[in-house]
Amino acid sequence: MSAQAESAERDTRFFGQPLGLATLFTTEFWERFSYYGMKAILLFYMYYETTKGGLAIPQATAAALVSIYGALIYMSQVVGGWIADRVLGNQRAVLTGGVIIMLGHITLSIPFGGQPALYVALLLIILGTGLLKTNVSKVVGDLYDERDQRRDAGFSIFYIGINAGAFLAPLVVGAVYGATNFHVGFVCAAVGMAIGLVTYFFTRRLLGDRSAKPSAPLNSDNLGSVLRNLGIGLCVLVILVAAAGFFHLLTVDTLVNAVSVLSILLPISYFTVMLRSPRTTAVEKSRLRAYIPLFITAVVFWLIEEQGSVVLAIFADKRTDLHVGGITLQPAFFQSINPLWVIVLAPIFAWAWTKLGDRQPSTPRKFAYGVAFAGLSYLLLTLPGLLYGTSAKVSPFWLIGSFFIVIVGEMLVSPVGLSATTKLAPAAFASQTMGLWFLSDAAAQGISAQIVGFYSASTEVAYFAIVGVCAILVGVVLYFLTPWIARHMEGVR
Ligand code: GLN
Ligand code: ALA
Repeated sequence: MSAQAESAERDTRFFGQPLGLATLFTTEFWERFSYYGMKAILLFYMYYETTKGGLAIPQATAAALVSIYGALIYMSQVVGGWIADRVLGNQRAVLTGGVIIMLGHITLSIPFGGQPALYVALLLIILGTGLLKTNVSKVVGDLYDERDQRRDAGFSIFYIGINAGAFLAPLVVGAVYGATNFHVGFVCAAVGMAIGLVTYFFTRRLLGDRSAKPSAPLNSDNLGSVLRNLGIGLCVLVILVAAAGFFHLLTVDTLVNAVSVLSILLPISYFTVMLRSPRTTAVEKSRLRAYIPLFITAVVFWLIEEQGSVVLAIFADKRTDLHVGGITLQPAFFQSINPLWVIVLAPIFAWAWTKLGDRQPSTPRKFAYGVAFAGLSYLLLTLPGLLYGTSAKVSPFWLIGSFFIVIVGEMLVSPVGLSATTKLAPAAFASQTMGLWFLSDAAAQGISAQIVGFYSASTEVAYFAIVGVCAILVGVVLYFLTPWIARHMEGVR
């Protein structure tokens, strides 16, 4: 064991974990605060009428746009991982990303910015999050040695940081929006990111130097070919956009479809490159093959989980009785329920895994149960429509219950998947494989963008039933694939 790993093993100053985890916990708390705070009102900002301060984008279009925004947020992780690997190093990438994200939220804060400001802001947040999110997770992984038993627990704590930010944000931003307007709501997101940046800047030294430098810096040998490839990529993009413009295809629909297709092509090409690379060893290739069905399952899981801020947000806005015990709730508040359940359940699951030790279910089995829970959460939501029809307003407890069930699933997929990715990833692709894990979420939202438009009051019951049953079927298939996957994981559990 290296001296650095040994000293990290002895550092137990943050709930038994290395103190650097506190820095990353806080940074990610505020980054997610800004992300989920803004996202809690984004859909409403898009489809509310102008008289209510919104942009009056049709609801189905707005839902698809929010989905591709989410897809791009996670697709940009690949770019962010690459920039960190080759140019900035993970730690500086986090700092740079935070600044760009903050600028994005500031752009949204400008009153009367309209749709142009919206697109510019989303682009900035996508770029900034690409630099920040994958790299901050990578730095978490770097706090531990490969054999350090605390790794899973460490990721669970980090995950609580994410969700604490995600929990607080919709309440704060929702309440501020309720009392003022959308733009002041977006100011809160900008302020949150600023707090995160300051904390990170002043406590960065706790992170050690393992992730301070780019792992495979560009040099005079490879710079030429990298620049050439970038140039070709840029030309192709310009030609495609010009062609789309020429054929009058430069529409929101084209954008949505293009992102959907890319979100699926990107992971496919990623797996192909890694499987073919001479830098991937035979054992690593076997592990990668085992990882593919896990990845597909994760896509289906995230598809439902991420619709919590799209389809279920619409359900909160249009179908839920917001008057409870004399107070009127903001529909944005419902976005706090998912992270609230994570915070409640994550310690219980972390404790259970420690307690069970070797007797805990294997990673593939956890995934199989996880995606089945996601399906069940949707099946539950067929009931209010079946029982009371889809024009009445129903109790908020339907949403609260559905979020609870999906989060039981999230406990079995998200921290487990993040940790499994760092273990199953070929060493040569270390930073980028974290981005690969996020691509499961990207593909999920890319696919989501194609289906959320079908959701409306009249299709509600069928929508929840079909998507729910499909997810459960995926869980069943994975359950029976588990022995094959376990064999190919070559010792990783
Ligand atoms: N909801 C979590 C977050 O925002 C996890 C996302 C993911 O792992 N795809 O960080
Ligand atoms: N549950 C979502 C995530 O873990 C909010 O961040």
